[in-house]
Amino acid sequence: MQQKVLILDFGSQFTQLIARRVRELNIYCEIHPFNSTKLNVDDFKAVILSGSPFSVNADNAPTIDLTKIKGKKPVLGVCYGAQYLVHHYGGQVGDSNSREYGRANLNIVDLNAPLFENVSQGSQVWMSHSDTIKRLPAGFKKIASTSDVEYAAFTIEDEDTFAIQFHPEVYHTTEGKKILENFLVKIAGVEQTWTPNSFVETTVSDLKAKLGNDKVVLGLSGGVDSSVAAVLLDKAIGHNLYCIFVNNGLLRKDEFTQVLAQYEDMGLNVKGVDASARFLKALEGITDPEAKRKAIGNTFIEVFDDEAQRIKDVVWLGQGTIYPDVIESVSASGGPSATIKSHHNVGGLPDFMKLKIVEPLRMIFKDEVRRVGKSLGMNPALLGRHPFPGPGLGIRILGEVTPEKVRILQEVDAIFIDGLKKWNLYDDVWQAGAMLLPVNSVGVMGDERTYERVVALRAVSSTDGMTADWVNLPYEFLQETSNKIINSVKGVNRVVYDISSKPPATIEWE
Ligand code: XMP
Repeated sequence: MQQKVLILDFGSQFTQLIARRVRELNIYCEIHPFNSTKLNVDDFKAVILSGSPFSVNADNAPTIDLTKIKGKKPVLGVCYGAQYLVHHYGGQVGDSNSREYGRANLNIVDLNAPLFENVSQGSQVWMSHSDTIKRLPAGFKKIASTSDVEYAAFTIEDEDTFAIQFHPEVYHTTEGKKILENFLVKIAGVEQTWTPNSFVETTVSDLKAKLGNDKVVLGLSGGVDSSVAAVLLDKAIGHNLYCIFVNNGLLRKDEFTQVLAQYEDMGLNVKGVDASARFLKALEGITDPEAKRKAIGNTFIEVFDDEAQRIKDVVWLGQGTIYPDVIESVSASGGPSATIKSHHNVGGLPDFMKLKIVEPLRMIFKDEVRRVGKSLGMNPALLGRHPFPGPGLGIRILGEVTPEKVRILQEVDAIFIDGLKKWNLYDDVWQAGAMLLPVNSVGVMGDERTYERVVALRAVSSTDGMTADWVNLPYEFLQETSNKIINSVKGVNRVVYDISSKPPATIEWE
C-alpha cells in the first residue's frame, strides 16, 4: 500500500504548492478541503494543516475536528494551521501590530527540535500573515522565533505535533523543503517511495483490476496529458483501448499526420479522423470567441460520439484529466467550492453515451505527468511540447475562421515554432504561437502598395498558465522570423510581437 500524507486545505493560495513540495520528496499526498465529509484520517500517515485567508477569530473561520488527529497522527500546522492549534487549545491569537509579509530569519531556540535538524541558524523564511500568536497554550513549547514573530515555530510536548508560522512551501523559504522532509521522514516516518516508476507500476495494476476485459475509448489531443494517459491504459489493457485522434482542421501545420504517425509508432490502437471540413463548416459566420469555442466543442463531441458508437460495447471513457483540475479548493467565503472543471477537450459528453470515466492521471501534477511519460520511455519531443488549446488555431484567428485564414496562420505559426527550435529557444518558452489579427495594414513590396494582414507573435514563460510573462526573445531571432514570415507567407505584410504579461492580459487573444 502506498503511504499517503493528508493536506487539509483551509483555503490558502499556497496549498497546492505544499503538495508539490511533498511530492518532490517522493512522498504521495492528497489535498482535501477542511470540511470534507468523505475523509478517513486513518488512511494517512501524517497530516499537514494549511494556511488560510481567514483569521481564526472570525465568526466563519474554518474549523475541524481535531480529536482524531492531534496526538494520534504526526501533525504539521502551517500559518493558519499553527494559529488554529493555538486558538483551539486555549492560547491567544490576535492582530499583529503590523502585517507580517516577506523575508525573516529564523532563530532556532530549541536546538534539539527534530523539525530543524540540519536547518541553519538564521535560515531565511517567508512570512505572510496578519494575525499573530500572542500566547501559547499549556503544554505547547516555542522552538523558533524571528525578529518580529515570537512564536515562529512550536511543538506540543510529548506529541509529534509541530507548527510553523512561516510558509515552508514557498521558494523564498530557502530550507523549507528540508523542514518538510524533517517532519515527514524523521518525525512521521513516511517512506520516500513515490516515484514515477512506482506510480506506473501501481497505476497499471490498478487499471488492470478496475477495467478487466472492458473496452475503453479515449480522445487523443496530441498533447502531453492525453498521450501519457493513453500509454498507461495501453500498458494495462492493450488493444481494448481505442484511441481517437480528431483533426479539427485547426491544428498546427502537418500536425495531424505527424502526431498520428507517432502514436502508431508507439503501438497505440489509434484511429485518425479527419473532420476538418465539418469543423470549418460549423464555424462559418461565427466571430464571438465563446461561440467559436462552443461550436468547436460541440462538433468535437459529435465527431467523437460518431466514432465511439462504431466500437461495440465500450464501457469506459478515458481522459487525461490532471490533479489541478480535480482539487476541490476552499473558496474565500469559507464553504468548499467544487472547482472541478470539465476536461477542456472532452467536456460534457452526451448523456446517452453513459460511459464510466477512467482518469489515470487525476492525482498527479503536470510536471509529474512528464516524468511519468519519461519513465514510460515516451519520446522527449512529445513530452516537451508546449501546451496547445483545445480549440486550436480557431481562437488564434481573431474573428471569423475561414480555410484561407487557417492556411495563413499555419504557415506563420510553423515558421515561428520551427525558428524557436532552430535557435534552441523552444524549451525556454512555456508556450508560443501566432495570432492572425482582424486588421489589414498598408505596406509596400517592390513598387506595389499592399494592404494585407497583420500577425502577432506571442511567447510566454509560465509554470501553470495562470500567470505568465512575455519572453525576451533575441532581436536577431525576431528579425529573422519576421523577415521569413513577410517574405514567404502570402497575405501577411506586418508582424508584431506581444509584450503583455498575464495579468492583466491573457495568453490567448480570444
Ligand atoms: P489564457 O488565454 O486564459 O490561457 O491566459 C491560459 C492557458 O489555457 C489555454 N487555453 C485553452 N485551452 N481550451 C483549452 O484547451 C480553451 O478554450 C482554452 N483557452 C485558453 C491557453 O492556450 C493557455 O495555455
